[in-house]
Amino acid sequence: MTSPHERPTPSTSSWWRDAVVYQVYLRSFADGNADGIGDIAGLRSRLEYLRDLGVDALWVNPWYASPLKDGGYDVADYRKINPEFGTLDDAVALIAEANGMGLRVLVDLVPNHTSAEHRWFQEALAALAGGEERARYHFRPGRGVDGSEPPNNWTSVFGGSAWSRVPDGEWYLHLFDRTQPDLNWDNAEVRAEFRDILRFWLDLGAAGFRVDVAHGLAKDPTYPDLERAERMLTMVEDTTAHPFWDRAGLHAVVREWREILDEYPGSVMVAEAWVADWNRLAAYLKPDEYHQVFNFHFLQAPWEATRIRESIAVAFDAAHAHGALPTWVLSNHDVVRHSTRYGLPQGLDARAWLLDGDRALLDSDLGLKRARAAILLMLGLPGSAYLYQGEELGLPEVHDLRLDVLDDPVWEKSGHTLKGRDGSRVPIPWTRDGGSFGFGADGSWLPQPVGWGSFSHQAQAGVEGTTLELYRSALRIRRELRSGDESLEWLDLGPDVVGFRRGTGTLVMVNLGEEPVEIPEGEPLLSSGDVADGLLPADTAIWVAVPPNRR
Ligand code: NOJ
Ligand code: CA
Repeated sequence: MTSPHERPTPSTSSWWRDAVVYQVYLRSFADGNADGIGDIAGLRSRLEYLRDLGVDALWVNPWYASPLKDGGYDVADYRKINPEFGTLDDAVALIAEANGMGLRVLVDLVPNHTSAEHRWFQEALAALAGGEERARYHFRPGRGVDGSEPPNNWTSVFGGSAWSRVPDGEWYLHLFDRTQPDLNWDNAEVRAEFRDILRFWLDLGAAGFRVDVAHGLAKDPTYPDLERAERMLTMVEDTTAHPFWDRAGLHAVVREWREILDEYPGSVMVAEAWVADWNRLAAYLKPDEYHQVFNFHFLQAPWEATRIRESIAVAFDAAHAHGALPTWVLSNHDVVRHSTRYGLPQGLDARAWLLDGDRALLDSDLGLKRARAAILLMLGLPGSAYLYQGEELGLPEVHDLRLDVLDDPVWEKSGHTLKGRDGSRVPIPWTRDGGSFGFGADGSWLPQPVGWGSFSHQAQAGVEGTTLELYRSALRIRRELRSGDESLEWLDLGPDVVGFRRGTGTLVMVNLGEEPVEIPEGEPLLSSGDVADGLLPADTAIWVAVPPNRR
C-alpha cells in the first residue's frame, strides 16, 4: 500500500487509462495576489492539497493571454500567460513542481478559434477582402443586394448569428462569441502554427492537452444553410452531414497532432466533442488520433438506473471497439454542478431552471446525497475520471447570482434567455470565514454566497463523513486496488440498482430506488452514506471487497 506522499510516478506507457484528472478553473481556484482573481501562484500554493486528495493529473483551463471575453477560451497569444494569472515562468514552475509531486499537467488547447485580439485577426481586419491574412479565418461576402445579410443561417452556440460584419462589408464566422473568430483549418499556416504550439507546451513539460471544441474544426467550404435551427449549448444530435460539426476533415488534423504527441512518451490528448452518436464519437479514439474523448452521455443521464446503466454500457462498447477505455465526468465549468442537477426533478432542464425556475423544486440535501453516491459509482468504473474543482467539497451550483455580476457571454448573446455558466465557476471556499473564504486575501471576481464557508476545505478536512473525506477515501482505495484489470461484470441486484463486479475484486452498487436493498456478502470498503443491517438505503452507493470464492 502506498500513501499519496510516496506514490511512484505511474509508468508512462498508458497512465491515462485509469487516471483521475482534476480540472482547475484557474480564475476560481485560489488567488495568490489578493486581486480577487485566481492565478498560477494560488494554484502552486495548493498543489499539496491536490496531491493529498489523490489525483494523478491536473487539467488547467486556458491560462493564455486573453481579453477573457469567454473565460480565456478567447486566446490572444498561445505562448503567453495572461498577466492576471501570472507569467510563463510561473507556468513552467508550476508544471515542474506538479511533476515533482507525481501530478501531470494537461494544457487546454483552443484550436477552433482565436480571440479577436490575436495578431492574426488584427492583421485580417487590416487586410483587404480576399487577402491571405483573411484566409486564416472564415471571411465571406454577405447575402442580399448590398451584402448586408449574413452569408448563411448558421447560429452561434451562445445564441444569435454565427457571423459578424467588418467595416469593409465582409463577414467572419464565429461559432461562439463574436470575439472568437473561427480559424480555417484548411489553411497550411494555421496547421503549422498549431503543430508548433503543441511542441511549445510539451517541451515545457506538459503531459498533453484537453482539446476544446474538437468536433468543430472542419467546415463545409460551400457554407450551406443549416436545415434546422440548433439548440444552444447542447450535444449535437445528428452530425452525419453537418456543415460544421464532426466533419470527416477534422480527423486529418488530429492525426498530424498525434504524430507529434507520439514523440513525447506518455503524453495524451482528450477531445471535448459534444457528439451524441457514440459510433461517430468513437471514431476520435483511433490509435493514431485521440487517446480519450469526454463522455458527456453519462453526465447527461438522469438519476434513473436504466438510463445510467445504458450510458455506461454504450460508452464501454464504443471505447472497446478501439482498444480504449471510457472517461467519466459529472461536472465541469460548462454544466450545472451535479449536486444541484440531482436535487432537481429529473427530466427538468437545469439550465432553464437557473433563469427563472421555481426554487422550491430544488432539494439540496437530496442532490448532495445522490452526488456522493454518483461519485462512488463513477470512481468505481474502469477508465479514467475527470473531477471538477469544488465537487470534492460538495459545492452546489450558485443559482442565485445577481444578473449584474454575470460574466459569461451566454447571458447577453442568448438575449437573456440563458443565465450562463457562472454558477459553476464561483471561487472555491478554502476557509470557514474571511473576506473570500480563503480564496484570496479578500474579495472574489464572482461573489460567493453567504454560508459558502461551511463547504470549505477547512470545515471538512479530517472530519469524518464529509464529502471531502469521502473523495479522499475513494481515491486512496481506488489507487490501492489499481491492478490493471479493466474488466467489469454487470450484476442483477434489482431494477433500481446499478451494480457490477470489477476484475479487481470490488463490487460497486448504487441504489437509485426508494426502498433499501440487500448488500451482497463481502467486506464493506466505503459507502456514500450510512449503511446498517446489510441494507443499502436509497440514493446511496457502496464498494464491497468480494471474497475470492464469490468472484
Ligand atoms: C468549450 C469550453 O469548455 C467552453 O467553456 C467554451 O465557452 C467553448 N468551448 C468555446 O471555446
Ligand atoms: Ca490573483
